Amino acid sequence: MSASEHKAPLTAAPSGPLTGTIRVPGDKSISHRAVMLGALAVGTTRIEGLLEGEDVLRTAAAFRAMGAGVDRDASGIWQVRGVGVGGLSEPVDVLDMGNSGTAARLLLGVLTGAEFTAFLTGDGSLRKRPMGRVTEPLGQMGAVFTTRSGKRLPLAITGRGEPLAIDYRLPVASAQVKSAVLLAGLAARGATIVREGRKPSRDHTERMLRHFGGDVVVEDGDGERVIHLRGQVELAAPADPLVVPADPSSAAFPLVAALLVEGSAVSCPGVGLNPTRAGLFDCLIEMGAALSIENRREEGGEPVGDLSARSSRLIGITVPAERAPSMIDEYPVLAVAAAYAKGTTRFEGVEELRVKESDRLAAVAAGLQANGVTVRMGADWLEIDGCDGPPPGGGVVETHFDHRIAMGFLVMGLAAKKPVTVDDGTAIATSFPVFRALMAEIGADIGEGKTV
Ligand code: S3P
Repeated sequence: MSASEHKAPLTAAPSGPLTGTIRVPGDKSISHRAVMLGALAVGTTRIEGLLEGEDVLRTAAAFRAMGAGVDRDASGIWQVRGVGVGGLSEPVDVLDMGNSGTAARLLLGVLTGAEFTAFLTGDGSLRKRPMGRVTEPLGQMGAVFTTRSGKRLPLAITGRGEPLAIDYRLPVASAQVKSAVLLAGLAARGATIVREGRKPSRDHTERMLRHFGGDVVVEDGDGERVIHLRGQVELAAPADPLVVPADPSSAAFPLVAALLVEGSAVSCPGVGLNPTRAGLFDCLIEMGAALSIENRREEGGEPVGDLSARSSRLIGITVPAERAPSMIDEYPVLAVAAAYAKGTTRFEGVEELRVKESDRLAAVAAGLQANGVTVRMGADWLEIDGCDGPPPGGGVVETHFDHRIAMGFLVMGLAAKKPVTVDDGTAIATSFPVFRALMAEIGADIGEGKTV
């Protein structure tokens, strides 16, 4: 599916209490990394709970095209037969990364350590997104790029085989950039160093590299997080299957829906609670949400827990810029929650939202306005005047082929005064293909078309 294919509108209508327990699919960030590190390891990695969304299937297809075995068995476990660091072979065709920035940027890191040329492209949304943030450090490491104007896809990369180890300070708080440099560093001689500064981004790559036997040391000094990776250390497939936690970014939708729809109580077990991802839950609790976390435990090197939400009266808050990396994908659904709150909610330091699957700051503001909510927006901030209860609704939201805009506004429609329509729900399949089925299970009324 791509941005240019035909649109499929969806409408969410005010729904009865939402109740039940649903297991949301595997974490998207962890799923990409599990396939990639499995492909670069020696041996066969088994993965349980891999997200079978379009984005991750693009990563699987790309690594298959370069000689790794990536298959699902009848019981739903994925088997990745690795080729070792430096063992990938030249793909015979262009690698199409679809809608996935993570797939494209992390893959460029891997390809920096390859000895061949590969061509990458993506859908209409991905072809607009900036790749200079990875071509710059990967170029320093020795990869050679030919890109379209504005350092965008399609592009060609020629790997260096044995990249140069660099000491790199991230200019943006981006786990994708950090991970691209670390993945390139796997094939480098010596230590690759990434300095994250005071805004640490998700650390799934560091955790999973260790799980595969990689030599990663993280120093946390003076508020600055510094990652050291020793290159040319062989990765080994873990003996036990890797368990992918449920995606907190997907669980956010049914949990926020439960907060907004009167009389609801919804639980999501086994959700990833990595502190570098948990910013949304901190915000909701500050807003007064009845959100509880139980049975905290560790699975495959990642903290997880069981989350439950009950309908709540929310109050507006200011979300500080420092929290942005830990909830970067959750602003659309938090904006929807803010529309129901008493008082104003302000997001600060959210310029990165402008370069996501869509310009999410503009898309969120327009979607709220279309549904009768007052907003004010600057280059890197947004203010939402809450309605102290259900907002008017009744609007049609332009999603710009952005899955989180689509799901966020469908959640809005479940408790607004009038139904909310999103112009196109096809992008939901990139990260949460069973969204509608699971939401229906808890009692949400989300139907096809512009009216219900
Ligand atoms: C991701 C990192 C984030 C996030 C994206 C997934 C990852 O992007 O928005 O959905 O898996 O590393 P940035 O690192 O560019 O902020």
